[in-house]
Amino acid sequence: MIKTDILIIGSGIGALSVASELCKYKRKILVITKGLTKSCNSSLAQGGISVALSDEDSYELHYKDTMIAGCNINDSDAVLKLVSTAPEVIREFIDTGMVFDKDENGNIAFGREGAHSLNRIIHAGGDRTGLRVVEQLLRNITTDVTIIQNEMALELRVKDGKCSGVITRNDDGEIHVYHANYTVLATGGIGQLYPSTSNDITITGDGISMAYRAGCRLKNLEFIQFHPTMLTIDGHAYGLVSEAVRGAGGILVNDKGEKIMEGVHPQKDLAPRDVVAREVYAHYLKGEKIYLDTRAVKDFRKKFPTVTEICEEHGVNVDDKLIPVAPGAHFHMGGVEATPEGITNIEGLFAVGEVACTGVHGANRLASNSLLEGIVFGKLLADYIAHNERTAPEITDEISPYTVGSLPDKADIQRQMMEFVGIVRHSEQIDEIIKWFEQYMPDHKDFVKLNIEKTTNDKFEIYNMLTTGWLIAKAASERKESIGAHYIVK
Ligand code: SIN
Repeated sequence: MIKTDILIIGSGIGALSVASELCKYKRKILVITKGLTKSCNSSLAQGGISVALSDEDSYELHYKDTMIAGCNINDSDAVLKLVSTAPEVIREFIDTGMVFDKDENGNIAFGREGAHSLNRIIHAGGDRTGLRVVEQLLRNITTDVTIIQNEMALELRVKDGKCSGVITRNDDGEIHVYHANYTVLATGGIGQLYPSTSNDITITGDGISMAYRAGCRLKNLEFIQFHPTMLTIDGHAYGLVSEAVRGAGGILVNDKGEKIMEGVHPQKDLAPRDVVAREVYAHYLKGEKIYLDTRAVKDFRKKFPTVTEICEEHGVNVDDKLIPVAPGAHFHMGGVEATPEGITNIEGLFAVGEVACTGVHGANRLASNSLLEGIVFGKLLADYIAHNERTAPEITDEISPYTVGSLPDKADIQRQMMEFVGIVRHSEQIDEIIKWFEQYMPDHKDFVKLNIEKTTNDKFEIYNMLTTGWLIAKAASERKESIGAHYIVK
């Protein structure tokens, strides 16, 4: 048994914000991550951070845009906390050495993305904001933090509604039992449940699935944001083409050069993401090719070095000004129900970042609010831990008798998810996928805890995908009306 004070599962911006803040209090922290430290969605994030820092902006306007994008089913207190705390937290982050891109006068430059009523997005290194933030947070971390890579969290240690840590297995096959006073879930979202995604390969819904088995309350699982513009060649997605490209003048066109968002929504190419994704998808299903026409975008290579790199790696020359695109799974608005401080219904278990559902995103996340959420709520969670003492109870881990039989492969799960709980859902078909998932339940009743010794990490990953997919499908079948990212036809 390995004892630690604070254990953080995951290494994205939420995780690292908690860790770097708690360093100020000289706390002992262990970060465990399934892949390498930078194998997370945060490092891939091309968008920026939306924050009301410009002279013409206010947190009230940011609040309004966030609520409208979320179809007003957001938790309004959580949104208010996020947007009103954000300017101060970002200023403090800048004081630690974080550098954001400047305009020609040397002031922070504000970019535009979909559904924002004014330019509010700050970037670092153009479209490399996520990576730059991760790097800065890693620099802010002191030696009180130990990061363990290539170790997969398998099961939370929860008894009588109290969490005492987690059981893991590393890539060498060694099982570790961690005892922690505070366990922080920061495992990211669910993108790899779909065939096309902007998410890192490690993002397979592990956090939601573990939390479910531990008795956590989950919320809004049906809301999955599809990004309209993944670089897509022959039906295969190769990475994100940032919405900031449309913010800088990019226009979606079909193979005849017709602007596809014309007449669809007053904000055209910068309409809310679900609207744009559905439109692109509808054309795509008709067999049309959709392109992002970048003729109006100045200094493309300088502003979008990551997009340029991804395109060129896959034989698309950005100087030709037409980037082939299609939608892909991007962000999960739902997750483990948590307060802005990350508190869940399990004592001693906290959630932050995409795995958490604090309600700030409602039915559809406003662009660039997620890196912000990781930074701001990561700080609030760290403050909570710093000021609320807890000693985790000693518990005896029960050994589950259940094992899994033959499992589908990942591609099977991804196909089912896209067809039944993808961009457009058909109410009478969702029960089919629920039943499909249920055939893989070990006792045909539930996705129960498995025997860890007898289940490899690869099997755990597939089991987590099945569990999370099933939970998403059930949530989708319960919400009968279309709203935001949940678009259902009868
Ligand atoms: C993007 O760059 O288009 C993604 C931004 C975000 O998802 O917030």
